[in-house]
Amino acid sequence: TLKGFHAILIGVIVPSFRLPFFANLIESMEKHEEYGVRLVFFAATDNKIESAIRSLLARGVAGLIIGRSIPESMKIYQLLAKQHIPYLVLDQNSDQQARDRIIVDEFQGGGLVANHFVELGHTKIAVVSPQKMTHNMLQRRQGFVDALDKQNINPVIINTADLSKHSGYAVTKKVIANKVSAVFVLNDVMSLGLMRGLVDSGVNIPRDISLAGYDDDDYAQFVTPALTTVSQPVSNIGASAIKLLMNRINFPNLPTQIQKFNLTLVRRESTSSYK
Ligand code: RIB
Repeated sequence: TLKGFHAILIGVIVPSFRLPFFANLIESMEKHEEYGVRLVFFAATDNKIESAIRSLLARGVAGLIIGRSIPESMKIYQLLAKQHIPYLVLDQNSDQQARDRIIVDEFQGGGLVANHFVELGHTKIAVVSPQKMTHNMLQRRQGFVDALDKQNINPVIINTADLSKHSGYAVTKKVIANKVSAVFVLNDVMSLGLMRGLVDSGVNIPRDISLAGYDDDDYAQFVTPALTTVSQPVSNIGASAIKLLMNRINFPNLPTQIQKFNLTLVRRESTSSYK
């Protein structure tokens, strides 16, 4: 009987359920849901974040995993401290200092793509990024730009609206007009949009333009050409998120816990040598 059984509730906040990265993250957390623990997920846009957190607190969560950046001005952290709610930050929220957090070396990740392009002989290069950059994305792009800078290459920075396929598609003309031979798109979802845009414009990938993404979403190996991308350790992130937060709930006085992960480049068909 379920009577009398009280699971520990953990609230998880992500920016979106539609982005495969976050969908996979959620799935990996569910896999590691321990006995007696229940996860409640929230996808919160900017104007919903405060009420999302307040309603999770009202439901009596024992802790929070926050993967979406929260403006300091919202005073959420003060609220959590006041109510003694343990929490852990990751991904878009990983810039929080002195807090339990999971850090993926985004700077290294961006550098992997840059070095790959350089090894292939590309010098005219673009990077596509969303207008609103979270801390992790800034690191990602900076790692890319800095590694190219070491080779005296200055990439063209092309901005687009958000992390969607449409936003990737929308920059097709700009990418072509800049006459680049290689383009790094800050996530696979946008890459997919740009891939379609280039194909529609008669551009051959990778013969005319090499294209690399980031995340290694599950479809990346199935599209044509298969997408070169940076693989995120999504399932390790999900597993450690649960582990670190449970540590904190069970042992509130533990010193700050920081778990770091590195990234790897997955070379596929969408990138090739400069011709
Ligand atoms: O595709 C979603 C992106 O936003 C990922 O790269 C992830 O790191 C997140 O911040």
